[in-house]
Amino acid sequence: MRRLLVAGNWKMNGSLSFTAELISGVAARASHAAGQNPPNYDILVCPPAPYLGLAVEQSNSQSVSIAVGAQNVSSHLKGAFTGETSLPMIADLGCEYVLLGHSERREYYQESDVLVAEKFSACRSFDSSLVPVLCVGESLEEREAGKTEIVVARQIQAVLGKVGIAGFKGAVIAYEPVWAIGTGKTASPEEAQLVHEFIRNLLRDHDAKVAEEIQLLYGGSVKPDNAEQLFAQTDIDGGLIGGASLDVESFAGICEAAQKLA
Ligand code: PGA
Repeated sequence: MRRLLVAGNWKMNGSLSFTAELISGVAARASHAAGQNPPNYDILVCPPAPYLGLAVEQSNSQSVSIAVGAQNVSSHLKGAFTGETSLPMIADLGCEYVLLGHSERREYYQESDVLVAEKFSACRSFDSSLVPVLCVGESLEEREAGKTEIVVARQIQAVLGKVGIAGFKGAVIAYEPVWAIGTGKTASPEEAQLVHEFIRNLLRDHDAKVAEEIQLLYGGSVKPDNAEQLFAQTDIDGGLIGGASLDVESFAGICEAAQKLA
């Protein structure tokens, strides 16, 4: 059975004090819910870049393990790229994950499939222990036109074309329908499962083992009251949480749903 992963994407929210308090609050709740043993699922937080170092420090001093990830990274390793953050920098800070191709990056910063694939490829060749979380998902218009699978396949094929199926070993894919992000509308567990199954089958055509092992997260208005039903689906291995990851109570509630199922 695949381990569940509960990942918080803070987007451009937080502060020094928020970072410290959120991490210690979630750790305390997760430790309490798990009892004597360590939690039987993984927790990840993705704060804004300026707080990554503090987040790692804070996580290291908790009794449960909370991994830290960046929300974005440059495809270049160093040089004259004002305002960018590199893979060596986030690794230096102790990040274990990096989100790539989030729909807000694709939409507001014109990140193309090609650029996302370049970042993914750079991440894989830089350090195989740094886990890329490839975000994919269709817009409302695309869903209504019946193009969900075409869009998701295109976004994944762009990366497959660059790194091959071997590049997906140990990576994570987050399926986030754009119409469900921050809107309060969630894909039903069945709707989400269908797309997750489609993604796993697409990967299975290339390598059954990689497809079986890869964690596929669902994202888009996940809350404590819908997390359990979503995570209970065969091909959903946890969630990428935006709004609800900014509050100890709700993020811990989602973690508890994972704890129950795992
Ligand atoms: P949301 O965001 O949970 O606020 O819908 C999810 C995401 O964008 O990763």
